[in-house]
Amino acid sequence: MNLFVVAFALGLPCLTPAVNVVHYPPKLTNLNNLTFVLNGTGAPGIFNSSTTPAIDYGIYNWCNMPHVRTQEYQIPSSDYNLKYIEVIQRHHKRTPYASNTFFKEDIAWDCTGEGPVYYGKGTVGVTSDPAVVQWSAYTNSQNPFTNSVGPGFVGSNCAFPQITTGGINDSYTHGADLRAVYAERLNLSTNLDPNTFKIRVTSNPITSQVSGGLLRGLFPDASDVAVLIQADAFDSLSASYSCPVADSVFSAYTTGSANWTEHLVDGAGIYKELDAVSGIAEDDTAGWHTSFDHYYDNLSAKQCDSKPLPCSVNDTSLCVTQSLADTVFRLGNYEYSYYYRDAFNSTLFSALSYGAWVLELVGHLTEQIEGSSSVRYFHNVAHDDSLGPLLGIMQISEMVWPGMGSEIVYELYEKSAPSDSLSSNYFLRVLWGGQPMQTSLPLGTNSSGLLDMIPVEDFFSYVNNTIGTGPELFAACQN
Ligand SMILES: *[C@@H]1O[C@H](CO)[C@@H](O)[C@H](O)[C@H]1NC(C)=O
Ligand SMILES: *[C@@H]1O[C@H](CO)[C@@H](O)[C@H](O)[C@H]1NC(C)=O
Ligand SMILES: *[C@@H]1O[C@H](CO)[C@@H](O)[C@H](O)[C@H]1NC(C)=O
Ligand SMILES: *[C@@H]1O[C@H](CO)[C@@H](O)[C@H](O)[C@H]1NC(C)=O
Ligand SMILES: *[C@@H]1O[C@H](CO)[C@@H](O)[C@H](O)[C@H]1NC(C)=O
Ligand SMILES: *[C@@H]1O[C@H](CO)[C@@H](O)[C@H](O)[C@H]1NC(C)=O
Ligand SMILES: *[C@@H]1O[C@H](CO)[C@@H](O)[C@H](O)[C@H]1NC(C)=O
Ligand SMILES: *[C@@H]1O[C@H](CO)[C@@H](O)[C@H](O)[C@H]1NC(C)=O
Ligand SMILES: *[C@@H]1O[C@H](CO)[C@@H](O)[C@H](O)[C@H]1NC(C)=O
Ligand SMILES: *[C@@H]1O[C@H](CO)[C@@H](O)[C@H](O)[C@H]1NC(C)=O
Ligand SMILES: *[C@@H]1O[C@H](CO)[C@@H](O)[C@H](O)[C@H]1NC(C)=O
Repeated sequence: MNLFVVAFALGLPCLTPAVNVVHYPPKLTNLNNLTFVLNGTGAPGIFNSSTTPAIDYGIYNWCNMPHVRTQEYQIPSSDYNLKYIEVIQRHHKRTPYASNTFFKEDIAWDCTGEGPVYYGKGTVGVTSDPAVVQWSAYTNSQNPFTNSVGPGFVGSNCAFPQITTGGINDSYTHGADLRAVYAERLNLSTNLDPNTFKIRVTSNPITSQVSGGLLRGLFPDASDVAVLIQADAFDSLSASYSCPVADSVFSAYTTGSANWTEHLVDGAGIYKELDAVSGIAEDDTAGWHTSFDHYYDNLSAKQCDSKPLPCSVNDTSLCVTQSLADTVFRLGNYEYSYYYRDAFNSTLFSALSYGAWVLELVGHLTEQIEGSSSVRYFHNVAHDDSLGPLLGIMQISEMVWPGMGSEIVYELYEKSAPSDSLSSNYFLRVLWGGQPMQTSLPLGTNSSGLLDMIPVEDFFSYVNNTIGTGPELFAACQN
């Protein structure tokens, strides 16, 4: 990192940006074993309901990932006093994205009464209490351009994407569960106090849609909440800031690498079966054949909302079978493991593309240690491609595609008894799916990688080595 900054200052070509990034490979499991992914059986978790049976809670559920709940929460020893938490989650379940609705079969999405609420509000008189305005998407056959966007739109009153009723319900439950675990320990009342609690979203409206449900569960008496948002040009939460070096590193190990294209080549037969139902052309250029993302989204969104798997519009006996859908679900998780953990340069890519959010987190933790902030809880509502690179930076040992409502909690504790030879008494516990996160990092007791009460300085030092300072990260991103 320092070498790079010197080179940058001297105007020399900078070929290796973040020089201290070390990739600690993930565990080998069925998730990242291509033989199993292509030739194995079954879905890698639950894909057809938001409800996980109580006995299985904690397993992967694409429709509603596990999060902190009183039932499973591990209460730390009373030597540790909870000072601050920072939560980052993916939004909850939704309709597919518009780009994923080109499937030429028709299973209708009905969004009557569940459109996004969107209106302006002034500060005085009637302007402070305007009517609630809710979107209802529609199409009109007189408009000849309608079909160019995708047949999924025709006749639907959904804004693709939007959070479904089930997703709002899951958001509410998520908030209520967090409240049950943390409200008393962080002294949060039933009303939201902006001095002690902050919430942040991205410019994608689905994160605000989730916030409404979540906040009702977290703060039952809250209304009129100010939600923080950064401009897209530099937003760290959605990672939409420009980082050309990250982009070129990423394309080198994906589209530019046989390690990536291998599964697309070996998966040609799977594409053939899917295309036969959907009518997607073999030479499609809308992304259906560059990864399994679009098929995964179209099939999983249907199943999470209890819709049947699609059949061809020309031949209703030709349908996507459950076993074919399960293969797509295995492939999707394989791709995320490759993007953020298996590829050697995935750590470098993650550090560059999501480093800014981690620097903000380190800033928040530092303010707590210095006693300069009254905030006790910071909540972020984001996307799979936020949690993806963050899990990449954390070097989680088993990478999955972060499903709906996926959650990471950073808990900062102060230990009451002075500890030996440490510069502070502050400890970090990181929870993934409600439990201490198992990583491949040489951190934690005996370098086990379990992030369960690690000295916060160990985390700071890892971030310093992997991401560097703000100016170093900014410089490392430029061509
Ligand atoms: C999957 O099995 C087929 C035959 O059943 C075989 O040809 C192919 O090599 C296997 N794929 C992988 C990735 O092992
Ligand atoms: C990958 O999966 C195949 C099929 O289940 C299995 O035979 C093989 O041992 C696995 N490889 C590893 C490294 O676990
Ligand atoms: C959901 O899928 C599982 C298999 O993964 C199956 O056993 C179960 O019956 C399905 N549930 C519904 C409601 O379709
Ligand atoms: C898949 O595509 C079809 C046709 O475009 C569309 O009706 C449907 O909403 C899409 N998504 C899902 C998850 O069904
Ligand atoms: C809402 O969530 C609760 C708790 O998870 C669940 O029991 C209930 O079935 C859900 N209701 C709907 C309409 O999804
Ligand atoms: C808890 O919060 C209330 C206000 O909501 C405040 O009056 C009280 O002093 C706080 N207690 C502690 C221990 O911080
Ligand atoms: C492909 O994978 C091999 C084995 O893991 C690795 O040595 C090589 O660097 C990778 N190539 C690229 C371009 O990522
Ligand atoms: C249905 O048949 C029509 C006419 O042959 C063709 O243009 C269309 O692509 C077919 N759709 C699918 C999904 O196969
Ligand atoms: C990782 O990225 C760096 C910087 O672009 C590049 O020099 C290096 O060859 C890449 N390593 C692999 C294994 O692809
Ligand atoms: C850590 O390693 C030491 C020395 O090998 C051992 O005594 C101790 O039990 C280990 N602790 C844990 C939690 O594994
Ligand atoms: C960050 O790491 C560099 C070496 O890469 C070191 O010189 C510097 O002191 C570290 N800063 C902090 C705050 O740990």
